[in-house]
Amino acid sequence: MSFSSSEYETVSESESESSESSESSESSSDSSQSESSESSDSDVWGLLRFQNKSALPVELTESEIKIGRSKSCHVCVRYSEKISSVHCIIKRKVERQKQKSANHKVHPVYLLDNSLNGTFVNGILIGKGKEIQLNYGDEITFISTRSNNKPNPPVVFHFQNLKIIKITTEDEIEKRYHFKKAIGEGLFSKVYYVKDRNTNERLAVKIIDSKKFQKDINSLRSNRNPLFDEVNSLSRINHPLIIQNKDFFITEEWLFIILEYARGGTLSQKILERGYYSEKKARIVFNKVAQAVEHIHDLDIVHRDIKPDNILLMDKTSDTNVKLSDFSLSRILINENKMSTLVGTINYVAPEILIPDLKYSKACDLWSLGIMLYYIVSAKNLIRRLIIRNPKGRLTAKQIRKHPWCLGKLNKIKDEYYGLKFKKRRGKQY
Ligand SMILES: Nc1ncnc2c1ncn2[C@@H]1O[C@H](COP(=O)(O)OP(=O)(O)O)[C@@H](O)[C@H]1O
Ligand SMILES: [Mg+2]
Repeated sequence: MSFSSSEYETVSESESESSESSESSESSSDSSQSESSESSDSDVWGLLRFQNKSALPVELTESEIKIGRSKSCHVCVRYSEKISSVHCIIKRKVERQKQKSANHKVHPVYLLDNSLNGTFVNGILIGKGKEIQLNYGDEITFISTRSNNKPNPPVVFHFQNLKIIKITTEDEIEKRYHFKKAIGEGLFSKVYYVKDRNTNERLAVKIIDSKKFQKDINSLRSNRNPLFDEVNSLSRINHPLIIQNKDFFITEEWLFIILEYARGGTLSQKILERGYYSEKKARIVFNKVAQAVEHIHDLDIVHRDIKPDNILLMDKTSDTNVKLSDFSLSRILINENKMSTLVGTINYVAPEILIPDLKYSKACDLWSLGIMLYYIVSAKNLIRRLIIRNPKGRLTAKQIRKHPWCLGKLNKIKDEYYGLKFKKRRGKQY
């Protein structure tokens, strides 16, 4: 599957012969001047890395990059007859972000498939005339990697958006952020509470060991690296009920995700503390999480790990000031593709994910929402007191009738009465 660098060549703007190309470079420099003072013509905003490691990456500076057989293309690929003269176009656009200030501009990157033979992103055919948003780490191929009779290896390269993840060193990170304490740990990540040395802002930094991340072995037709799933989802999201990302950095070994800090801990910790949530509070929390899920589903993002551990409380005093967090298992759907990778947390995972070879989609998040609701509502406190293995540990029928849930007096009952007292007697309940 390797090919020598002579099989493609990159044509810089000055070498390019066609008037079509110089027109496009002119218009791109015009638009970059008018659109934002932050970018200049020499700014490299992205890279295309060929799968062949010995080939130098192509630096993307223009706002429109044409790739194909034609010499007028910015990236000239003459590997196969099947490649069209302009096979696809990568475009860095300017969009105003709705929820931020009027002047806030974002630069989403799109790929327009211009070929009948097709351009594939992460193994999925885009289709001539169709455009999709590109993500950091996306694999672009020109010939199906799925074809059985492969006469030629496909042309493969990976896209990196340098404006999303900034390349830096650990020293630079420590110069900018004062690491206060560790606040969470997962399989591949550690989360710290930090202070921005410039602004004094309290933040959370999630540090991911990129070496521990394996390629998505379940997805044979794709070389996409799941390390960047969290970054790609977060960089598209800007919603008051979802933990906001501030920045992303990468060093040789680590990926740093800078997040707004939630000082109240996780919803699962809160439920443990409280013993249960009243119907009223559960309704508020559930509505907020459902609203956050509605937003990400509208963006074609599937969370795949919705559970109280991934719902964070923004302050210590309120039980309902929550935000959805942890997009480490999330995926962005392309062309409504379905997923088959077994991910999630076992108690919350939808059955369709567990059945081998069954494809699943956004609805897996709704199952998890259902389990989560069961977990947080007060009725669970009553249910748990009935399904105790030791018959002597169960409530009597008389006690059931006096349970606040049966009396419908949940809001009037103090947490100490049913929650904490119960917790002390039986130890850890959830
Ligand atoms: N923005 C944040 N503010 C405060 N604590 C956080 C934040 N993000 C994560 N944490 C803490 O770190 C833990 C692990 O983070 P999470 O993003 O869920 O990573 P993992 O993928 O390892 O589950 C969380 O359960 C929470 O306790
Ligand atoms: Mg988590």
